[in-house]
Amino acid sequence: MERSLTMELVRVTEAAALSSARWMGRGKKEDADDAATTAMRTVFDTIPMQGTVVIGEGEMDEAPMLYIGEKLGMGNGPLVDVAVDPLEGTSIVAQGTWNALSVIAIADGGHLLHAPDMYMNKIAVGPEAVGKIDINASVTDNLKAIAQAKNKEVEDIVAVVLDRPRHTDLIKELREAGARIKLIPDGDVAGAINTAFDETGVDVLFGIGGAPEGVLAACALKCLGGEIQGKLVPSSAEERERCVKMGIADLDKIYYMDDFCSGNDAIFAATGVTDGELLKGVQFKGMRATTQTVVMRAKSGTVRFIDGEHSLKKKPNLVMEE
Ligand code: FBP
Repeated sequence: MERSLTMELVRVTEAAALSSARWMGRGKKEDADDAATTAMRTVFDTIPMQGTVVIGEGEMDEAPMLYIGEKLGMGNGPLVDVAVDPLEGTSIVAQGTWNALSVIAIADGGHLLHAPDMYMNKIAVGPEAVGKIDINASVTDNLKAIAQAKNKEVEDIVAVVLDRPRHTDLIKELREAGARIKLIPDGDVAGAINTAFDETGVDVLFGIGGAPEGVLAACALKCLGGEIQGKLVPSSAEERERCVKMGIADLDKIYYMDDFCSGNDAIFAATGVTDGELLKGVQFKGMRATTQTVVMRAKSGTVRFIDGEHSLKKKPNLVMEE
């Protein structure tokens, strides 16, 4: 993949974040998501690439834009698989709380997992604990292994967990083992990425969230040298059937880093929509707005934080009219 695509992806997530951030705290998650999706779609048309959406807003018959299989880009340039979540944390924006992101990842064509839109059990860590986790092992054993790898006590470990009733047993075990816990209302992509940045204060993500979000988190962790493991959790006969139709014969399969994103390259970008531990959210002042984005590439290992200042007067539609 051309490295120049990294900056193009920043423009994509910036546009989606700028559009959806206007909906912060307004209690309208669909409108916030539509705004992000429309802006993202508009900017894609300006990028020299031949992209195919593999993780998107839904199947062709249920999503008008960024549906799975949709072709993106100007029709020239590299063939890439595209995973998008124009607004990761729709409820977060609706309520104006923490860690909503606009997210995109790309890899060479055929290299991203086509994850079904269902739940996945996940465990994710940053670089220091790579090779030490095992989704089949107990939570307590994983905590011990992570603590040892990070030269900490289990009591020092902070585990991020989505605040859901399905995690009652998980939370109980984490508490019994002595770990500290950060319960998040939404946004397990941010939860997974944050494990790779010491300054966020989190060490591990545990629990069940969306499988598509698992692919996005895996791309980010591939760039950051971290690790995620996942296992699909189909919750109905219909979902199990969908897996079979997608060619997933073994429903107990563990997905490792290379299953999520194979090959040696991936590019990942995320722009903060609302404030989070890693990225500031969008701020508006008159006809100007600011954004903060992290963009990174697996092949080079480069991680960049990009502060953007945008003129809403010169780019009312978020792309320059040439
Ligand atoms: P949306 O932006 O699609 O609302 O997803 C937010 C999210 O919290 C994800 O981060 C997470 O993987 C998933 O929802 C969890 O699903 P559920 O809300 O059904 O528990």
